[in-house]
Amino acid sequence: MKVNLNLAVVSLCCVIVVVMRVSSKNMMRAVQFREPGGPENLYIGEVERPVPGKGEVLIKVKATAINRADTLQRKGLYPVPAGVTDILGLEAAGEISEIGPGCNQRWKVGDRVMALLAGGGNAEYVSSPEGQVMPIPSTLDFPQAAAIPEVWVTAFQLLHAIGKVMAGETVLIHGGASGVGTAAIQLCVQAGARPLVTAGSAVKLETTRNLGAVGNFNYKEDDVVAEVMRATNGKGVNIVLDCVGGSMYETNINVLGMDGRWVVYGLMGGGNVNGDLLRKVLAKRLSITGTTLRSRSLQYKEQLVQDFSRLALPLFENRTFRPVIHTLFPLAEIGRAHELMEDNLNTGKIILQVEESTGKEEL
Ligand SMILES: NC(=O)c1ccc[n+]([C@@H]2O[C@H](COP(=O)([O-])OP(=O)(O)OC[C@H]3O[C@@H](n4cnc5c(N)ncnc54)[C@H](OP(=O)(O)O)[C@@H]3O)[C@@H](O)[C@H]2O)c1
Ligand SMILES: *[C@@H]1O[C@H](CO)[C@@H](O)[C@H](O)[C@H]1NC(C)=O
Repeated sequence: MKVNLNLAVVSLCCVIVVVMRVSSKNMMRAVQFREPGGPENLYIGEVERPVPGKGEVLIKVKATAINRADTLQRKGLYPVPAGVTDILGLEAAGEISEIGPGCNQRWKVGDRVMALLAGGGNAEYVSSPEGQVMPIPSTLDFPQAAAIPEVWVTAFQLLHAIGKVMAGETVLIHGGASGVGTAAIQLCVQAGARPLVTAGSAVKLETTRNLGAVGNFNYKEDDVVAEVMRATNGKGVNIVLDCVGGSMYETNINVLGMDGRWVVYGLMGGGNVNGDLLRKVLAKRLSITGTTLRSRSLQYKEQLVQDFSRLALPLFENRTFRPVIHTLFPLAEIGRAHELMEDNLNTGKIILQVEESTGKEEL
């Protein structure tokens, strides 16, 4: 009797294993969280592999990255745009594994690509609109490529599409050592403008200096307004790229010169302002523009990605531009990756390597 029972258990297990193997063909590992909260809520779950829709391609992800928006989404503070997967991840690099219906001929299976995503990048596979996919410059590997789409396209949008930067202008970049900041510095230099930055530590400011920032100020220790005015011969800056908001508004209003453009794209220092803000907006003829990337229309994002590809990718190819990477984690260490970012310890990007498949779906 006991032998038979063992046999039954063993056969049942075999059946389960076979069923799992068959179904795993359409399954993949992806970053999940059960409820909003801290990084400890993150785990790798098995979910259905996405199927590329009309005008989309499926990418087998080799490397992906995290962004501030992911940490906000994890905390329940960033609603996912309508129709977008709730899997985290705004960018990925890998190989095209399937072409969806209605695509034009620009991609083929096996192409090395990176993509700007509205979500879903922290997974083994992700589906992307074909127009938000870019070829990986031949000089870059997958982790380096995964460091590009979200922060470089954002910085490109801030400086060019919104800020309309011109050669000879001066730009103050807060969060200079952030993912976006390290890209913005390089784009600024390339545009013939002078980047000044703020960051919170000497180590970070050394990196920003090496990337080409001509004024590097520690906002925790220095008198930023006085330093910026000194660096601009009292004229002030033409543009501020502001991901801080509330806690930095007085600095911004004081360092902007006549006709200055204040581009607000993050509120890490809160959204509250309290003071005689509008008087200087009026007197200096300032403009304040807020902008987001993720919630933009497909058409807007495709145009931006195409412009970025044409103008910036050749400069990665010849190593004028370089993605700045702080740490590489395996995908499974997603919780540690979020902690590192929330502790403000990274200079540049935190990358997740998505291991090769374990072979279990080969059967
Ligand atoms: N609107 C958009 O389309 C868009 C797109 C992408 C990103 N973003 C925003 O861009 C910002 C940067 O994103 P990221 O992923 O590049 O960030 P990140 O690499 O995590 O870097 C952010 C850095 O900002 C600094 N910081 C944090 N809180 C601050 C505060 N209260 N005051 C001053 N500095 C502070 C910290 O460095 P220190 O040590 O220097 O303090 C931190 O390491 C975020 O606000 C993000 O939400 C917006
Ligand atoms: C890199 O390529 C860009 C664009 O093609 C060109 O303007 C630049 O001079 C090149 N730089 C180097 C160092 O080759």
